[in-house]
Amino acid sequence: MSYQDHKIAEVADMLKNRLPELPAKADILKAVELKALFDAIPTMPKEQRGAYGKELNQLRGELQTLVAEQENQAESLPSIDVTAPFDVNVPADKRPELLPSENGSKHPLMAELEHVLDIFYRMGFTAIESREIDDDYHMFSALNFPEGHPARDDYDTFMTVEQDQNGKQFIAPAHTSTMQNRVLKKYKPDLEKGKSIAVVIPGRVFRNEDLDARHEHTFYQLEGVYVGKGIHAGNLIATLKTFLQEYYQKELEVKTQPFYFPFTEPSFEFALSCPFCDKKGCNICSYSGWIELLGCGMIHPNVLREAGIDPEGYTGFAWGGGIERLVMMKYGIEDIRHFESAKLDFLRQFS
Ligand code: DAH
Repeated sequence: MSYQDHKIAEVADMLKNRLPELPAKADILKAVELKALFDAIPTMPKEQRGAYGKELNQLRGELQTLVAEQENQAESLPSIDVTAPFDVNVPADKRPELLPSENGSKHPLMAELEHVLDIFYRMGFTAIESREIDDDYHMFSALNFPEGHPARDDYDTFMTVEQDQNGKQFIAPAHTSTMQNRVLKKYKPDLEKGKSIAVVIPGRVFRNEDLDARHEHTFYQLEGVYVGKGIHAGNLIATLKTFLQEYYQKELEVKTQPFYFPFTEPSFEFALSCPFCDKKGCNICSYSGWIELLGCGMIHPNVLREAGIDPEGYTGFAWGGGIERLVMMKYGIEDIRHFESAKLDFLRQFS
């Protein structure tokens, strides 16, 4: 089709050339150049609008026809055969070899997680697994993030299109703290019997992160919750220090810095002296001698109250941190992306 208006003719050529390269053909109908032609109509002298508009509609019609043709072509491409790539009638010894299952081994992260949990069992904790889909209430409201609170945006949360019964989208948990309310409610009867709540919660968490050697969109966290009578920040620091010294099998120094989380008050960032260089400075600790490991604090009274626990009678601490970081430091692993890479040369070092 040829067009009288030279602008329309020019855009027509441009878009027809672009069409073969577009993965989604219908996107051509949303091209900015086409929109600009339509947007120009109100700026034209009235007497030109009729002819111009007619040509422009012809161009749109032509593009729609081309899109439909090319989409049909894609549908008629030959289908791909996904059946077994060998003849099942061939004798077994002539078939492609399957990898023997005994070549497999536990993923290093899971092996380390078992080791981490063993240490906490010996310290009197019990373990509950987190979940991979959760709701707004457990991710935010139960953790003292009121509706519209800016800290909700800190978590780069993935959400589903589907909504829960409160009209909120479901959430791929961005931290294991989503389990705090459940754990507190479940073990509340223990408190009434004079027993403290001591639970660790491992789980897979998800964040819409920019990926690099230290950031993955999918990683593991270990959450800890301890509630009892007269519990204070000293108990928190001693618990984490004891665990870390057992895990790294060496004396370590630890320090806390003030931080902010809505679900703890006070909140801290917890750092340990670099287990690699003993504070001399190395590339693991970016030559600072210290490694910031996790977030922690004294559980906010609102979080206890939300679980039906009286903050006048009981206090507690909680922490949450990435498991990969612990393991990376133990073995000098330089890139967090190795864990989910399924690279055999990485995995075989641990089998
Ligand atoms: N959930 C926090 C995060 O992923 C870490 C955290 C901080 C967990 C303080 C806690 C806590 O339980 O008390 O950034």
